[in-house]
Amino acid sequence: MTRSITAQELKKRADSEGAVILDVRAVDAYSDWRIQDDGVTSFNIQNSKLKERGVASFAELPKDKEIITVCAKGVAAQETAQMLEAAGYHAVFLEGGMAAWSEFYNPVTVVRDEAISIYQMIRPAKGCLSYILTSGSDAIVVDPGRHIDNYVDFAKQQGVTIRHVFDTHLHADHISGGWTLAKATDAQYWIAPEEAEGATFEYHALEDGMTLPFGTTDVKVISRRTPGHTIASTSFLVGDKYVLSGDTLFVSGLGRSDLKGHAREMAEMMFNTVRTTLASFPDELTVLPAHFSDYTEKNASGYVGETMGKIRENNRMLHITDKDQFVELSVKNSGVTPPNHETIIAINRGQISPSKEQQTELETGPNRCAVK
Ligand SMILES: [Fe+2]
Repeated sequence: MTRSITAQELKKRADSEGAVILDVRAVDAYSDWRIQDDGVTSFNIQNSKLKERGVASFAELPKDKEIITVCAKGVAAQETAQMLEAAGYHAVFLEGGMAAWSEFYNPVTVVRDEAISIYQMIRPAKGCLSYILTSGSDAIVVDPGRHIDNYVDFAKQQGVTIRHVFDTHLHADHISGGWTLAKATDAQYWIAPEEAEGATFEYHALEDGMTLPFGTTDVKVISRRTPGHTIASTSFLVGDKYVLSGDTLFVSGLGRSDLKGHAREMAEMMFNTVRTTLASFPDELTVLPAHFSDYTEKNASGYVGETMGKIRENNRMLHITDKDQFVELSVKNSGVTPPNHETIIAINRGQISPSKEQQTELETGPNRCAVK
């Protein structure tokens, strides 16, 4: 009987003793999107090659460590694990394959304080980051993914009630759990009205400069419009130490401006945001984005975030003072458009609601939100 491992167990293995992964998908699929993390060593060899040449001819496969085989949905990888076991290797396969990995979320503490705590929910496969802020017995969730049980369970564990759910913008790269989470928990759902245009859900209008009601603390959560990635992208200042920057500012890049059309106009908007609002953020402020492009963006504390000072130092887009040059670079560097983004936008507007299986299919693949 071939043994399997869950995505969560794989992550634990990578964090403790390290994980050896044998990914049997096609070369293109592997180079496009694979499991990457600290502690992960991975190889890409297809089943046909293993059969043709014999497992033993691949010297890189260790005999003394358990090999985790991975494929798209867990079927081919099971066969590989069987093949390896028969050849005297130790092997398990990832249950549900990359589809299951794509649905795995991992909460990490950013700060735990008497006044306010911030937790970052990392979705490693998609590079998506969402947040749970807690104060007293209240919680705010920002940019939740569609697997809302992760937030409901986390809030339960922390003994807090989700009062508000914010979306920094209408997402185009992944399916938002914003209004479904709010509905399921009786919380209030907030998004900028310009973002919600054409949407079928009910929401509270997120305006610029609002102080959002929250918890028992004097630490204020204030919305700041930072348009450019989308027309009314909003960031959230949490006291004077943190900013949840959505897809406006990343650790090593800026949000792309081309996903909803009008790329040049939007890039100009981003330029203005960079030169005004972002320029006003103090160096000490820690930026907590909604995406990361690479697991190496995680800091020593295990979360993705960086001080404004460091980002300013390293991000060349923030150094450009000429608007035309900024726009040219932004348009040129946007790269491959996220697959299915138009369908995902329609889902996030509530206009269509495909089955869970179709949603998984639509979200498969890496995140492509940043301009570097
Ligand atoms: Fe986005």
